Amino acid sequence: MSHDISALRKFVSPEIVFGAGSRRSVANFAHNFGARHVLLVSDPGVADAGWVGEIESLLTEAGIQSTVFTGVSANPKVEEVMTGAELYRSSECDVIVAIGGGSPMDCAKGIGIVATHGRSILEFEGVDTITNPPPPLILIPTTAGTSADVSQFAIISDPNRRFKFSIISKAVVPDVSLIDPEVTETMDAYLTACTGVDALVHAIEAFVSTGSGPLTDTHALEAIRLINRNLEPLVSNTADPYLREQIMLASMQAGLAFSNAILGAVHAMSHSLGGFLDLPHGLCNALLLEHVVAYNFPSAEDRFRRVAEAMDIDTRGMNTREIKKRLMNRIIELKRHVGLEARLAQLGVTTSDIPYLSGYALQDPCILTNPRKSSLKDVQVVYEEAL
Ligand SMILES: [Fe+2]
Repeated sequence: MSHDISALRKFVSPEIVFGAGSRRSVANFAHNFGARHVLLVSDPGVADAGWVGEIESLLTEAGIQSTVFTGVSANPKVEEVMTGAELYRSSECDVIVAIGGGSPMDCAKGIGIVATHGRSILEFEGVDTITNPPPPLILIPTTAGTSADVSQFAIISDPNRRFKFSIISKAVVPDVSLIDPEVTETMDAYLTACTGVDALVHAIEAFVSTGSGPLTDTHALEAIRLINRNLEPLVSNTADPYLREQIMLASMQAGLAFSNAILGAVHAMSHSLGGFLDLPHGLCNALLLEHVVAYNFPSAEDRFRRVAEAMDIDTRGMNTREIKKRLMNRIIELKRHVGLEARLAQLGVTTSDIPYLSGYALQDPCILTNPRKSSLKDVQVVYEEAL
């Protein structure tokens, strides 16, 4: 009998409450953690939409004080994390709640780390660097895509290096995720498309990742199936509550898959791109996706066949070349239907940026679980193809 330790798999997840209205249980959960004073992290857009005020009222009604921090930009910066942590300390907070997209949620994770270590967030780049448990964290996602609310990732931008760095640790999995499709109703079609394609990339990268396994595969495939069927209709009708719920469910499943199976070259290359040009994460992923799939395909043919099947492609009787072609065509079609077809050059990337972008992409931990080993030259070629 063999006991191959490399075959062991673990699965971490927050406590999840999924469904319309789940955000309203925020005060109960905060109370269970003994909260007296919550730091409520969000951004100006989510505050304008009224969600921050609602959470504040729910906490107040339960006798819990709160201090609001909305100084978070689209790619959360080192400075913003440090400012939020200082506010957490000076306000004597004991629990963190964040409501928003990936940026406020990642910023909240960073604030929690700094709050218990008292050092710069820059010192926690990488895998398993956190020694002290952060304060209780409750996350309420307002987009269906980033899945920071279930993942063991926090992505922070370092403007000095023009680089987005990853913190990967079980310690940044929140304690509670309140996944409420009602709060995604303030997303416009463009944000719905960007975040939805991000979720699709999570599911595909998790499924072909070298860290994939039976605990994550079913979540990844179900997420691909749900996004393939529901994202285009949702982008044309963002008010539909049924479609919103399906995509929120897909995002959650994709998040559970990638949090545990990790990601691949799309994310490594898009983190590098997003840090360099401060671009929306989902857009960066969308522009790179089919180029990375083409590059990876020969190293994970059987896995990509199952991705194609989850995208409703009947692969019976098809050879590998046909499967690859059909899968690429479907990805390109889906992107076109949701309005994400630009090329990197249109976003301001030039040929001379590629060596810089490629160097940082190779330093991203997501590159390690990519199914095909990638050299600097390989990454450069894929960027060139997306240019
Ligand atoms: Fe992502």
